[in-house]
Amino acid sequence: MQKYVIHGGHPLFGEIDVSGAKNAAVAIIPAALLVDGCCRIENIPQISDVTVVLEILQELGAEVRTINKNTFEIDCSHIRSCRVPDELSRRMRASYYLIGALLGRFGEAEVSMPGGCDLGVRPIDLHIKSFKTLGADVDVQGGFVYTRAPKGRLDGATIYMDQVSVGASINAILASVLADGLTVIENAAKEPHIVDVANFLNSMGANIMGAGTDVIKIHGVASLHGGTYSIIPDQIEAGTYMAAVAATGGCVTIRNIIPKHMDCITAKLEEMGIQIDEQGDSIIVTRTSDIQRTNIKTMPYPGFPTDMQPQMAACLCLANGGTSIINEGIWENRYRYVDEFKRMGAEIQVDGKVAVVEGVGHLTGAPLRACDLRAGAAMVIAGLAASGTTEISCIHYIERGYENLVGKLCGVGADIQIVNIAEDDVNQDAV
Ligand code: UD1
Repeated sequence: MQKYVIHGGHPLFGEIDVSGAKNAAVAIIPAALLVDGCCRIENIPQISDVTVVLEILQELGAEVRTINKNTFEIDCSHIRSCRVPDELSRRMRASYYLIGALLGRFGEAEVSMPGGCDLGVRPIDLHIKSFKTLGADVDVQGGFVYTRAPKGRLDGATIYMDQVSVGASINAILASVLADGLTVIENAAKEPHIVDVANFLNSMGANIMGAGTDVIKIHGVASLHGGTYSIIPDQIEAGTYMAAVAATGGCVTIRNIIPKHMDCITAKLEEMGIQIDEQGDSIIVTRTSDIQRTNIKTMPYPGFPTDMQPQMAACLCLANGGTSIINEGIWENRYRYVDEFKRMGAEIQVDGKVAVVEGVGHLTGAPLRACDLRAGAAMVIAGLAASGTTEISCIHYIERGYENLVGKLCGVGADIQIVNIAEDDVNQDAV
């Protein structure tokens, strides 16, 4: 077991390269199951969620070849099984994409109900409804989702999403790419990684139009062929480093981003008094004065992303006076970091989906426990800005989604280290 030890209070200066998008990678890797041939996928982030999904594909019979730490070749020509074991599936939320991909290619899938961060109730009813609309039989029993296309192939259909869901939109695409006829997804989510999954599949011969809008049309094709594809940069990883500079002060160039994807985060940071300059595929973040209070409401893209809400809360605690209101519009349980921030001197009141954050201007280091991926990232930001030492345990949550977080932060002058936890401390931690 390991923890992060942060000596806070150092402004950040220098350059950070953003890795490939986690949420695109965990969908595109399962999408390789749909391809008849070898896919070379570049810019895959080196994070534990990727390791798990690659392990699952290998377990099913895929050949996975490592070209370098961010490039893999995946060949799913000889899949042996459509059953994803419970112990692997539970380790990540995005294992639900294996259902759509296996069902779409082989006409059947048995996948244990997904795990992932505990952000409140995380149903997959919209995914199941989509598969049924495409003609699949779906049964949920003993913690497994069993699905079958009675004639071995699904039929295109119109799927109306009752709620905007990233996962269900992508799963409906995966299931319908090889279906007979036309599928129309109405009220689809518009996140950048949905476009990336569609671009990946189109580059392998699929016929998907409208990704990035709320109506996606998929003309089923007989098969997909191999090819090479590079994953988009991670909007949330970039946003996290932008928030880190806002919190600590300093000036950092964040490279390898798509500025358009950052608009919602850039606009909010500018409201908070942070200077943001775009230069091609880089963004320069500078804090020249105190952080100003603001309000945040999380919404589906192009609204403000829920996955940046905890990191922004860390910055708003550091505002010099003023009250900020955060309204969480997606998840029920996204304020579990609040009690940890209070240990650092934060003043935050939570009532349901609303958090009222008082700008206290300054935080002090404390021992913290990460409780999910983005909450953990927010604790790192708070620790970097705080005076004194912050120790963060349960860092496996953070390592699900950030490639080389410690190395990248040290590269811009942060004092953060990974330290092994002695067995006695682990036991104490577990109490
Ligand atoms: C994805 C992201 C996650 C992000 C979230 C919202 C991945 C791997 N994860 O999660 O980081 O926080 O989008 O941007 O890409 N819902 C239902 N029924 C369903 C599915 C969802 O009611 O079948 C609800 C959820 O409870 C939630 C809302 O829809 O309130 C949005 O969830 P969704 O967009 O599906 O999130 P994920 O795809 O799981």
